[in-house]
Amino acid sequence: MSDIDKNRVIIFDTTLRDGEQALQQSLNEKQKLQIALMLEQLGVDVIEAGFPISSPGDFNAVRLIGENLTRTIPCGLSRCVDKDIDAVYEALKNCARFRIHTFIATSDIHVQDKLRKSFDDIVAMAVNSVKRARNYTDDVEFSCEDAGRTPIDHLCRMVEAAINAGATTVNIPDTVGYTIPSEFGGIINTLMNRVPNIDKAVISVHCHNDLGMATGNSLVALQNGARQVEVCVNGLGERAGNTSLEEVAMALHVRKEYFGGLYTNIVPTNIARASQMVAGICNEKVPPHKAIVGSNAFAHSSGIHQDGVLKNRSTYEIITPESVGFKDNNLHMTARSGRHMIKSRLNALGYSDDTFNLDEVYKRFLELADKKGQVFDYDLEALLFFTHDMEEKTQFELDNLNVICGGKGVIPTASVRMKIGDQVYTESGTGDGPVDAVFNCITRLTKIDCKLVDYNISATTEGMNAQGQVDVDVMYHNRKYHGKGLSTDVIESSALALIHACNSIYRTQIVEDKKAEEQANHQVHMSV
Ligand code: KIV
Ligand code: ZN
Repeated sequence: MSDIDKNRVIIFDTTLRDGEQALQQSLNEKQKLQIALMLEQLGVDVIEAGFPISSPGDFNAVRLIGENLTRTIPCGLSRCVDKDIDAVYEALKNCARFRIHTFIATSDIHVQDKLRKSFDDIVAMAVNSVKRARNYTDDVEFSCEDAGRTPIDHLCRMVEAAINAGATTVNIPDTVGYTIPSEFGGIINTLMNRVPNIDKAVISVHCHNDLGMATGNSLVALQNGARQVEVCVNGLGERAGNTSLEEVAMALHVRKEYFGGLYTNIVPTNIARASQMVAGICNEKVPPHKAIVGSNAFAHSSGIHQDGVLKNRSTYEIITPESVGFKDNNLHMTARSGRHMIKSRLNALGYSDDTFNLDEVYKRFLELADKKGQVFDYDLEALLFFTHDMEEKTQFELDNLNVICGGKGVIPTASVRMKIGDQVYTESGTGDGPVDAVFNCITRLTKIDCKLVDYNISATTEGMNAQGQVDVDVMYHNRKYHGKGLSTDVIESSALALIHACNSIYRTQIVEDKKAEEQANHQVHMSV
C-alpha cells in the first residue's frame, strides 16, 4: 500500500441497518433507496443496506439498493448461519461488487448465556460462515459481537481464525458502548501486535454510544491501526446510538495533522443535506446540541462570543457552517446579544450607521428580546420604523375556531373567525388534515399566501392539560418567518402560530412600503 492508501479511512455506513433497526417505524424500500443514494453522494465507501434474512421487505430493499449504487459497495448482514449468508448472496448476486457481513458474539456473557455454546463452537461457526461467504464474494467482513467485553486472548484467537478463513475485513464492535477510549485503543493495539496475520485484513471498529464514547473510541482505534469505521448519520442506532458519521468525518478533516494525515472520502458540504434527509425520512429529530448537525451547533448566543466571531470567526468557530453545507445566519439575536451584533446585523441588512441611532435601537431591541426570546431580522427592521405602540399592535387575531375531523369518510373541515384590523371575518374550508384546513382558512382571511416549510409541536407542561407549543417557519417573498402558538389544544396552537407569522409578514410589508417611500422622497430631494 502507498503512504496515501495507508492513511485512507473506509467509511462503512450502517444507518439503514443498525440505525433503522432502532426506529419506531421501519422504513419502506423507497425511503431506504433515497437515503442510500444520498449516502453515495456523501462519499460513503460501504453501505450496510439491511439484514436480508430478517424480512422480505429488508431482502427487497437490500436488492434494490444494490442494483442502484454505482460507486459505493452494497453490503448485507448475516448471522453465522448458512441461510442468512445465502440470503445476502441472493439479494446482492447481480451486483458487480458486494460485501457479505457475518457476525457472532465472542464475549463470555454472550457465548455462555445467549448462545449457550463453548468458545470452540463459536470459532468453528465463524470459520465455516466466513468460508461459505467467501464462496460467494471476495469481500467478506466478520464481526466479533461484544468484542469490547471479550477476553483479549479469545479475541486474538477469533480474529486470527477469521482472517485465516478468508475474512478481508474484521470488525471489532463495542456492542454495548462499555469501553473507554484508552482501553479500546489498547484492544486494537494488542490485536495489531499479537495477531500474526493481521496485515491480511482491514481492521474495522463499530462503537455504540452508551457512555458517550463512540466517536472517541472510534478515533483512538484509528490511531492504533484500524482503517474502517462503522457509523450512522446523526448517530442513529440501538439505545444511545452508533458512532456518528459526521463527527468522525469532521474530526479527521479538521484535525488532519493531529491524526497524521488520516482522511476519508466524505464530502463535508453534503453533510447537512444528508443529516436533514435522514432526520426527515426516519422521523427522528436531530437534538439541537448535536455536534456538527444540530440547529445550535453553529449558533453563538452570548454577547462576548458574538463580538469575537464578528471580529474573527475563528475565535469561537472551529468549523464554519458553510463547510458542512448549512447556509443560515448563525448569530442568534437574543437578550444576551451585544451592541456590536445588532449594529452589524443592521449593516448587513443594508442600513448604514447614519440611518439609525444605535443607543435607541439597542435599548428597544433588549426590551423586545426579553419579551420574545429570539429576535429575527424582520423584528429588528420593524424597530427602526415603528414606534413602541405600533410594534405591539397586531393586525390579525384569532377570534374563534371550529374543526370537524376524524372518522371514516369525514373530510377535515374548519371554520375560522378572525379580527382583522377593526373588522371581524369568517372563512370555512377543507384540507388534507385539520391543521391544513385551518391554515387554508387563515391564508384566505389574511390574504397572505405563505408556504409552510417547518412545523413542530412540543409539550411545554406535563399531564392531561399539557400546553402544546407549535412553532412554524413559513416562506413569504423569499424570506423566512417564524411563528409560535401556545394552547392546550394543538389545533389552536397551530392557528396561533401561523397568525403570529402572518403578523410579522404584515409588519414587514409596512416596513418595505415605508422604506420605498423614504427612498422616493430622497430621490425627489436630490433632484430638486
Ligand atoms: O453492535 C454490534 O455488535 C453490531 C454487529 C452486528 C456488528 O451491530
Ligand atoms: Zn451495532
